[in-house]
Amino acid sequence: MSQLDILRYPDPRLHKVAGPVVAVDDRIRRLVDDMLETMYGAEGVGLAATQVDVHERVIVIDTSDAHDEPIVLINPELIARSEEMTFVDEGCLSVPEVYDKVPRHARVRVRALDRSGQAREFDAEGLLSIAVQHEMDHLLGKVFVEYLSPLKRTRIKTRMLKKSRDEARV
Ligand code: NI
Repeated sequence: MSQLDILRYPDPRLHKVAGPVVAVDDRIRRLVDDMLETMYGAEGVGLAATQVDVHERVIVIDTSDAHDEPIVLINPELIARSEEMTFVDEGCLSVPEVYDKVPRHARVRVRALDRSGQAREFDAEGLLSIAVQHEMDHLLGKVFVEYLSPLKRTRIKTRMLKKSRDEARV
């Protein structure tokens, strides 16, 4: 397994739309394992393939306290969404040190293939529900800051570009 580089906002590659996984084969399983290592290494609770510049519908999530309950979602779909919405501070490994509230469905029902290619369905609520929606947005090329006002987004872009420049200097 190896850690992958995470694209940082406003990298235009974060806006590519991911295509479906055609077969859950060894290549995809290697991608899943690398994504899990990358997510745990960066202390995130979720990572979409888009963020590591692979534009296929693959997500990994772990919202457990002990970081020992990985969830792998391949070709995920939301098959039900609650009308009730929730607003919780979100962060993103592609937008480090930025947190803000985004509207999400409080509960969703998810259908996806797992690491072995088996179809699964489950209900998600709380942090898991939010993480699923956040990561599924990535697969559509959408970063959570795009829910914020243009002014906030411009500030975040400026901050991220400055951060990248500062890091490039050291
Ligand atoms: Ni994210």
